[in-house]
Amino acid sequence: MPRFTIIEHTGAEHQVDAEVGQSVMQGAIDAMVPGILADCGGSCSCATCHCYVDETWMSRLPPPESTERDMLECVLEQRETSRLSCQLRVTPAIEGLVIRLPASQV
Ligand code: FES
Repeated sequence: MPRFTIIEHTGAEHQVDAEVGQSVMQGAIDAMVPGILADCGGSCSCATCHCYVDETWMSRLPPPESTERDMLECVLEQRETSRLSCQLRVTPAIEGLVIRLPASQV
């Protein structure tokens, strides 16, 4: 199981072990990490799974597809490193990934 780190806006840090093939969002929900609402269940239509990918990881992840890019326009405080965690797949290559959560999900 690949392990990644989620850091809440408060600084609270969570180590998450997730199944390959899951989304990062689902792995976080299963690990009961607060701060991800995932209202649409992962169908890329709510943007309440917004996260910031650590800059060192941006080039190591597949780029967002157009649907994700469109949904990212809806988030508060969008940054260059913004992604939707439901669109990030857990693969062996994400071992060590670090993401941060925004103060709120809208
Ligand atoms: S869970 Fe709804 S867009 Fe990711």
